Amino acid sequence: MRAMISTALIWWLNLTLHFSFTLAGKFPLSNVKAQSRLPGNIVPNEFIIEVDLLSRIPTTRSYSRSLDAVFDHLQRRDIVFDVKKEFNSAGIFVGAAVSIQTSQGAAALANTPGVIDVRPIFRYPSPKPLIAHPINGLDDPTIPPDGQSTHVMTGVDKVHKEGTSGKGIKIGIIDTGVDYTHPVLGAGFGPGHKIAGGYDFVGNAFNGKDSAPMPDDDPLDQCNGHGTHVAGIIGAIPGNQFNISGVAYDAELYAYRVFGCNGDTPDDILIEALLRANDDGNDILSLSLGGADGWTEGKTSTVASRIADSGKVVVIASGNDGASGMFYTSGPGNAINAISVGSVDNVALALQSVLVSGIEHDPIMYWATYELPKEGTLPIYTISNDTSIADDGCNPLSDKTPDLSQYVTIVRRGTCTFVQKFTNLAAKGAKNVLVYDNGNGFVAVDKGNFYNAALIQAADGEFLVKQHAAGKNIKLTFPKNGRPVEHPDPNGGLTSRFSTYGPSNDFYFKPALVAPGGNILSTVPTNMGVYAVFSGTSMATPFIAGSAALLLEAKGKSKDVTSNARTLFETTAKYVPSDKTEGSLLQTVAQQGAGLINVYDAIHTSTKVTPGELILNDTANFKFGQQFNVKNEGTQSKAYKITHVPAGTALTMHEGTIVPQLGPVPLSNVFAQVIISPDSIQLGPGESQTVHLMFKYPTSISNSIFPLYSGFIQITGESVSDTYHVSYIGLGGSLKDINVLDDTDYFFEGTKLPVLLNGTQDVQIKPTNYTFTKDNFPAFLFRLVFGSALVTLDLVDPATELVPTIPANQPSRRNNPDNSTIILSFPSPHDDGGSYASVKVIGPLEEFKYVTRNDEAGGNGFNLYNLTEPTFANGSTIKDGQYRALLRALRVTGDPTTEEDYDSWLSPIFGIQKSQTT
Ligand SMILES: *[C@@H]1O[C@H](CO)[C@@H](O)[C@H](O)[C@H]1NC(C)=O
Ligand SMILES: *[C@@H]1O[C@H](CO)[C@@H](O)[C@H](O)[C@H]1NC(C)=O
Ligand SMILES: *[C@@H]1O[C@H](CO)[C@@H](O)[C@H](O)[C@H]1NC(C)=O
Ligand SMILES: *[C@@H]1O[C@H](CO)[C@@H](O)[C@H](O)[C@H]1NC(C)=O
Ligand SMILES: *[C@@H]1O[C@H](CO)[C@@H](O)[C@H](O)[C@H]1NC(C)=O
Ligand SMILES: *[C@@H]1O[C@H](CO)[C@@H](O)[C@H](O)[C@H]1NC(C)=O
Ligand SMILES: *[C@@H]1O[C@H](CO)[C@@H](O)[C@H](O)[C@H]1NC(C)=O
Repeated sequence: MRAMISTALIWWLNLTLHFSFTLAGKFPLSNVKAQSRLPGNIVPNEFIIEVDLLSRIPTTRSYSRSLDAVFDHLQRRDIVFDVKKEFNSAGIFVGAAVSIQTSQGAAALANTPGVIDVRPIFRYPSPKPLIAHPINGLDDPTIPPDGQSTHVMTGVDKVHKEGTSGKGIKIGIIDTGVDYTHPVLGAGFGPGHKIAGGYDFVGNAFNGKDSAPMPDDDPLDQCNGHGTHVAGIIGAIPGNQFNISGVAYDAELYAYRVFGCNGDTPDDILIEALLRANDDGNDILSLSLGGADGWTEGKTSTVASRIADSGKVVVIASGNDGASGMFYTSGPGNAINAISVGSVDNVALALQSVLVSGIEHDPIMYWATYELPKEGTLPIYTISNDTSIADDGCNPLSDKTPDLSQYVTIVRRGTCTFVQKFTNLAAKGAKNVLVYDNGNGFVAVDKGNFYNAALIQAADGEFLVKQHAAGKNIKLTFPKNGRPVEHPDPNGGLTSRFSTYGPSNDFYFKPALVAPGGNILSTVPTNMGVYAVFSGTSMATPFIAGSAALLLEAKGKSKDVTSNARTLFETTAKYVPSDKTEGSLLQTVAQQGAGLINVYDAIHTSTKVTPGELILNDTANFKFGQQFNVKNEGTQSKAYKITHVPAGTALTMHEGTIVPQLGPVPLSNVFAQVIISPDSIQLGPGESQTVHLMFKYPTSISNSIFPLYSGFIQITGESVSDTYHVSYIGLGGSLKDINVLDDTDYFFEGTKLPVLLNGTQDVQIKPTNYTFTKDNFPAFLFRLVFGSALVTLDLVDPATELVPTIPANQPSRRNNPDNSTIILSFPSPHDDGGSYASVKVIGPLEEFKYVTRNDEAGGNGFNLYNLTEPTFANGSTIKDGQYRALLRALRVTGDPTTEEDYDSWLSPIFGIQKSQTT
């Protein structure tokens, strides 16, 4: 079988600091050649099947397990298969991961009695840890508060003061494993230790592609580091040198290692880890992982959702694809009943400072967790005295440059990479470098192998250079503080730019809420720096897992508490503005969810509001009538006022185009309107009341840009601090009106998509017969500008008279002289070939379900389907002859049996002329 390879869908769970938000320009088609070699995200020839209850499977023999009945059915049909894994969690998931080497076998799987679902196995990219600041030994006793800024932002500090710290709660962390030798994580493993258990499903060498998993009982990770950072956010033991503490530092942690040192992991291992973490009795599962998905239907998402539904709190990262714009959610974060977590930036940056002498100036902050190691006081050397030079230090330095080893070299950021500058400076002996910002923002720098370097702010750098040019003898000293100092972050408290936007294509409310995830100081393996600052929704996720542990310690672990945790966190969260200016719009609910978690309020509220989410859907499925319930669980009678607090309306599409806007998605102040009835209520102790809402979506904004309107219905009690809210989202326009197949040259300059590529991956411009020897095969290049629940590729008769929605931009519509429209007969005959009323479908090549849209900002720009073997999807050989391919993609909310609900494209004619040599 051939797998469709989508170019990558990689989001790192924590970001490397030179993460690029630049708008991807147009690419030449030659980029296909460069990019299509990227690993794909589907494991070839492997599937996850879900099986029915034994009682529902027709059999002639008796079996004790439904899996055995299904396997026997397969064997009796002479299907050769290997069982990779069995899943046997009754009530959650019973099925298997199987590998099947023939297309016939794979096609037969779906119609085997007892098989209720067959899914390809997706791979999820490994978190990529950023180890920016290795340690060099510190024990300064005067360490001020640090890391706690995130706790103050969310009321965790107040919960800790009450003595609530996660005692008696078990949290399973599904990640890269943990360095449990870390002193701040208890320096031990097993019962009685902080890291009380877990499992390694993969081993160090596993990469999800060409290495077999080597499971064992020891989830130690000293080669990746991501899971250790995650574990510290939940569980760091207070009283350490950096004065950080976990959100639930007394919880018991279980580490489930699903990534090797590098590479990906497939669905089947994630499902296995979820089921085991559930069986081990964890109260909370935390998953800082995922990949672009867009639908709630993925197999790992489904299993995670069922576990949540069974009474566990399941917390999953929403994704780091904020740069890709709206409707670009991740799986398994899409799991319907899980808590999908987005990120806000920490209000404090942990920075170091350098002392200035020779001129009056405050210490200058530089971006580092650990101080630069240089001892003593050094003069500065400037590469240029002109602070407007864009490419400062990008070229090799002149021969007249002195030995730079005895200076602190000052260079301006820009034009070339940091590493390029450091390489040029190091060639002249430079050992200590401060790069001053050129306006791109204050971040950590990628140092490559050059160690003593950090970024300072533009104004500080310009000051140093100008004073130096004026002849001042400036010297710098790096004090050994032993710890960074908190410095206010201008974006602190806002949603992180990388935080993914929802909702899912099927319009679920994702993310649920946000927690601090940008610039988080936590633990990393002792051999990888001990402490480091990472950013990502990976960091926000364990924050919510820890918060849930505080809630469960305070309220008990009953199903009533666990299944209402999300609603409680949502209704007591705090609004996040879109920027720091007075009166700015609130950030769209599609990115902030219900807002920033406040754990103290969630635990202490005596006003219960349900539900937390109101989904108005699109205008074609508009649910204008909504309601919610307010209950006074306090001991005093209380009056509440109910008001509408709209958030910014997010403009999904570029005006006049079919492509989604990149993030940060622009917001408009055209809001929905709502009639609230009643808008004030009085509730005695224990009383509750339903409030009715009638929504009207914004009409003074064009539905062609698909405005995603959202906001909050606020319930205000006795004081302005006594407020709660339910959050709503809705879409102006009908999802079915959104094009899914890209028919523009927006992505590949000058090449309108879709296109048929020939064996050398050039557009086929003249009649070609493909021989299927070596690289001689046709390939189909297409992009989805919006998600599609069903994408099919069929071979049809070359004389087909169908008028596709997208005209072939390639030669020859000569077989279609009169443009006559033909009605296709559905449902699609994808299991058995077949034919349409007028379009002769010779056979299906492939069918893909629940496909995410492509993006421009990440690495998921396009889909390329290589027809490497002359076979249909069911494995039968395609006869030599002339054909066209019909590509169809179902629009969101479209009916799979209705032709108009698909975007379609008919390829130019191509020939199949198999090589005669066997
Ligand atoms: C498709 O085939 C081309 C040419 O052999 C190859 O370079 C490319 O990696 C293949 N792409 C995929 C996605 O398999
Ligand atoms: C560490 O942080 C706590 C809580 O924020 C603070 O009370 C304490 O003073 C800090 N300890 C040191 C040594 O600074
Ligand atoms: C910058 O100015 C100082 C002081 O005048 C001078 O010594 C130095 O050579 C100048 N550097 C460059 C790169 O021009
Ligand atoms: C939105 O409406 C579509 C079409 O009816 C439906 O399939 C989808 O499930 C709805 N979404 C939610 C979250 O209710
Ligand atoms: C593919 O197209 C290019 C450009 O038209 C052409 O040079 C090349 O020979 C073609 N390759 C095959 C295998 O047809
Ligand atoms: C392709 O094969 C067909 C049938 O064998 C033949 O008629 C046609 O000329 C061939 N076309 C090319 C471009 O070689
Ligand atoms: C067929 O459609 C094309 C493109 O829309 C148009 O240019 C052409 O005139 C149409 N031909 C007929 C016969 O209607």
